[in-house]
Amino acid sequence: MSSTAPTADHCSKLKHYGQEHLIAFWKELTPAQQSQLAEQLDGVDFELVQDLHRSQKQEEDWSLVSEQAQAPPAITLADFADASSYSAAVESGSRALAAGKVAMILVAGGQGSRLGFERPKGMFPIGPLSNRSLYQIHIEHLRARAKQFGTRIPMYIMSSPATHEDTLEFLAAHQNFGLAADDLRVFCQGTMPSMDFDGKLILEKKHQLFASPDGHGGMLEALDRSGCLAEMIDRGIEHIFYGQVDNPLIQICDPALIGYHLRHRSEMTSQVVRKNDPLQRVGNVVAIGDRVRIIEYSDLPESVARKTNPDGTLKLWAGSIAVHVFETSFLARSLGNRDSLPFHLARKKVPFINSTGELVSPSEPNAIKFERFIFDLLPTAENAIVCEVDPADGFCAVKNAPPAAAETPEHVKQAIIDLHTRWLKEAGVDVVAGTPVEINPLFAVDSRELSQKVKGLLKLDKATYFH
Ligand code: UTP
Repeated sequence: MSSTAPTADHCSKLKHYGQEHLIAFWKELTPAQQSQLAEQLDGVDFELVQDLHRSQKQEEDWSLVSEQAQAPPAITLADFADASSYSAAVESGSRALAAGKVAMILVAGGQGSRLGFERPKGMFPIGPLSNRSLYQIHIEHLRARAKQFGTRIPMYIMSSPATHEDTLEFLAAHQNFGLAADDLRVFCQGTMPSMDFDGKLILEKKHQLFASPDGHGGMLEALDRSGCLAEMIDRGIEHIFYGQVDNPLIQICDPALIGYHLRHRSEMTSQVVRKNDPLQRVGNVVAIGDRVRIIEYSDLPESVARKTNPDGTLKLWAGSIAVHVFETSFLARSLGNRDSLPFHLARKKVPFINSTGELVSPSEPNAIKFERFIFDLLPTAENAIVCEVDPADGFCAVKNAPPAAAETPEHVKQAIIDLHTRWLKEAGVDVVAGTPVEINPLFAVDSRELSQKVKGLLKLDKATYFH
């Protein structure tokens, strides 16, 4: 036990903000625990915490916003059929890639609580035959894309304190899955403490505040703090392809997507899927006036979600899959506009130390978590557009542990098999029903390359991993 007192500075600050309970157990702590708590307290922006507590009641009036929502400016699958504009887009995107102007950001700082995997989600094995991890799949895809254009594409992986060390170790143990050290950076996002409904921060241990990653929107601040944004600018990166670690189908640095983004002079382009149900649980990408923004499915009133066009199709059809292209200059400008990434709050059950020092596991939500969402940058982007992708080609995320009805590892593995089976069939191979296949992007990055590689292969009737 130590009798060291908390500093006068800590005491007066905590008193000022009504957070003195955070040092209630100070005298019971070891010196190491005291300094850990002191360091954590130094990192808290108490003014922000107070503002967040006070502003909770001024949430946006979503029904009002939703009434104004229109379909966003879009490149749809039907537009891809216009061969001249499609090939012009592919050419623009290819030129930017070949010139080394494109980087990728992979966000992987989430806690993956629904999946229940103890390690960072990026380490989760998802290759249906290869057992490759999500990290390996994304990195190999990026390398294949770089090879396709005879260029280098650096990857910036965003971790969080919970995933950082494991991620570094895993990548080092696998020699970065073949990506040159100069082309891989892992930068760590920040955290936010949670508060109870009275605005009091929560202790998860007597010497530790409960804090969690500050959302994928924490990326902007973390890119700046880590020096990664400055490095990208120095390196001549003008366009950034963004994806999330849990979707192994991401069409990494797709030249057509980048090309449409460039040809529309868009500062931020979002890839979307056509919703198959008005109430599908995806963010709705919409236009409000001349601005694009996302309305979460939980905020969109059902009556608006069900609105249709005269031909019976859904009016608000575009569902976000969290794949974006950013102009680097847009991210740099956004740094000066803190308000463009507001905190969203979620009510959660968080175990806490009560006033008598016992750990309590609540049965009802007792805490508010704060997260920033990167898509909140959309309305501040000039000429923002969306670009459609068939989900079978580009979207199937690992979210849930079995026996959930969707987004489990089994569903995602099947989606990979289905996509690669289709590529083989398009290449003229008779894939016998029920034969699992998987294609490493370094073998073939798309169906066109696959057709070249499997010439002469007529039939496939046993499990095959092409690599
Ligand atoms: P999700 O919101 O699905 O969260 O993140 P999650 O952590 O993967 O899973 P749950 O909700 O705890 O079960 C979507 C993507 O955003 C990243 C995740 O790593 C995932 O790629 N993310 C999320 C971050 O990078 N940081 C965050 O703070 C939150």
